[in-house]
Amino acid sequence: MALRESPKRPAFEPCSRLHELSSEEMAVYRQLDPARMPQHVAIIMDGNGRWAGKRSLKRFLGHQQGAESVQFVVETATRINLPFLTLYAFSLENNLRRPKSEVNFLMKLLRSYLASNVKRMNDNNVRMQYIGRIHELPSEVRDTMQWASESTANNTGTTLTLALNYGSRSEIVDAARTVVTDLIAEAHQRGCSLEDLLAVDGLETRLDEHHISAALYTRHMPDPDLVVRTSGEQRISNFLLWQIAYTEIFVTERYWPDFGGMHLLEAIANFQSRERRYGAIGEDGGEVEEDPDQIRIAVS
Ligand code: FPP
Repeated sequence: MALRESPKRPAFEPCSRLHELSSEEMAVYRQLDPARMPQHVAIIMDGNGRWAGKRSLKRFLGHQQGAESVQFVVETATRINLPFLTLYAFSLENNLRRPKSEVNFLMKLLRSYLASNVKRMNDNNVRMQYIGRIHELPSEVRDTMQWASESTANNTGTTLTLALNYGSRSEIVDAARTVVTDLIAEAHQRGCSLEDLLAVDGLETRLDEHHISAALYTRHMPDPDLVVRTSGEQRISNFLLWQIAYTEIFVTERYWPDFGGMHLLEAIANFQSRERRYGAIGEDGGEVEEDPDQIRIAVS
């Protein structure tokens, strides 16, 4: 099986809109190293309910305020030329475990967000796309989503990906099903059995990490360099599990509705202070023993 083809999409074109940052944002941006900017930031937007609860407001007002934060953060991302921003907007678990009334509200909010922000996205050169089991969402929501992605498809700035009805384990299951289905289709096309097909190249050649990566919803994007989680919870909640193998994680106590562009820049500053090792030895990791036979294991 060949690796899955990506549809032709316009290449990312950086532009110079730094002057549109607020003075506070600019102060943080000036501390950043332009050569070490992340290519992909993914955010677990959490704390809408608690933000509302702290103000004795209904939960839906927290979500509404959260939608405002989405637009602010997206605009800052475009101004600093971030190629990919992925937002966890609605998980499979949210869909299954939240009261129907809240799920319906979130769906309405998504539609109204898209309807009222597509012009702004075009002004900001943002391309909209989605990951998740989109086909399970209500048809009127899917229609609006499709309209928004088609209306922004030719933009060449930040790609904004909304994870909707998304769960990482089910994404991996879907990817495995795709790989197997493609193999069966290829065997069928060649008039042989799957067993015969695998006997030619061996399973190792036909199914490796690249094949899984190429069948994930995120196949058009680099893995995230940085995952941000708001509201202080130190967990990943079934978000991009495969893709974040070497991603830096930044947790802030701030609730999502209080998170803005400046906080995105602060998270990037924190990211730049880290040493990424990808399993190798760090700069202060001690001396390497060249001859392993010289190493004695101390037994006490
Ligand atoms: C978590 O807050 C947030 C969500 C479940 C949904 C995220 C939705 C938005 C940010 C608004 C709409 C988004 C778009 C793209 C229009 P929570 O309800 O789990 O908060 P809690 O943990 O404090 O209860």
